[in-house]
Amino acid sequence: MHPLTPYLLGRPHPGGRRLVDVQRCLRTTDLDEVGDRTHLTVFQMLGSWSLGDYDIATSLRWGFDLLTDGYGIAPGRLHATVFGGDDRLGPDETARDTWTALGVPVEALGDDNWWSNGPTGPCGPDSEIFVWTGDGPPASTPSVDERWVEVWNHVQMRYHRHPDGRLTPLPRSSIDTGMGLERLEMVLRGDRSVFTGDGLSLWVGAVRDRWGLRGADLRVVADHLRSAVVVLGDGVRPGNTGRGYVLRRLLRRALTVLWRDDPAPSLGELPTTLYADTLRRFRQPVDPGALPGLLGDEERRFRGLLRRGRPLVERVRARGPLTERDYHWLHDTHGLPRDLVDGLLAEAG
Ligand code: GLY
Repeated sequence: MHPLTPYLLGRPHPGGRRLVDVQRCLRTTDLDEVGDRTHLTVFQMLGSWSLGDYDIATSLRWGFDLLTDGYGIAPGRLHATVFGGDDRLGPDETARDTWTALGVPVEALGDDNWWSNGPTGPCGPDSEIFVWTGDGPPASTPSVDERWVEVWNHVQMRYHRHPDGRLTPLPRSSIDTGMGLERLEMVLRGDRSVFTGDGLSLWVGAVRDRWGLRGADLRVVADHLRSAVVVLGDGVRPGNTGRGYVLRRLLRRALTVLWRDDPAPSLGELPTTLYADTLRRFRQPVDPGALPGLLGDEERRFRGLLRRGRPLVERVRARGPLTERDYHWLHDTHGLPRDLVDGLLAEAG
């Protein structure tokens, strides 16, 4: 939703005041959670926006109708969370009362229900909708039981956070909702994991069959490689800064897991049809034939870095715990970034 920021701040949108879209999303804030059943680095988000049009109560009621009457999810499998207030703002009573009137249990939380678009910019309280994915009847609440899976978030863009931390009201209050397509698919298929859905299962099958990975390792490698393909499909190339570094880190994390027990596997073993399928799902008109070369270059670069880095890190470590000066020397003189050094240290035990 980042391209919408100017319109959430008040500029009129040429498409009107009610918008819908499907967004390619990359979330690196959840990176450490990838490997579980429901977190992905890249996913498709179904978005809807009210730019100063319908209000939060309407948005939540329509959301409830779509999930229950539209998609057929039993109302008893839903749970909501709302902003419970903090030292500056009171609780979100409108959202809480709307859910209560709809008969949906609701839990009031703190920071988890405050959405912001980075350290500055539009922000506000949100209300998240969870679906029960456990075997028995629904139990407990979303904040303590991960069988409640969040599928849809309704954000009230009411404030503007300034660089000095001040919150001021936006000229008009907007709604920004996002529903994770892969999670919706999981819930509607009655699956227990997003990795058995149409787009992910191909990756899981290819990675498992070629390299024999299982469990969290399998999910991390499948997720990160698929995410890297989508980021490459957007024209980003591996680099040492900004977007390029996000891509580089994704690939290196995947290769680190892949090579933990055996350094032989190569990304070149993956079929190009896998890339083509992902690019098609994400509506990226890119020639999949270009990807093996790009991935192969990055793989070779990383192998070279590891080959040079291992003995250097070993040598420095033998003198004692690494200092800031050691990190700087390894980075500035030998091109070894801190996270790579930390990975080699962990590898050495
Ligand atoms: N755009 C709503 C969300 O990211 O949760």
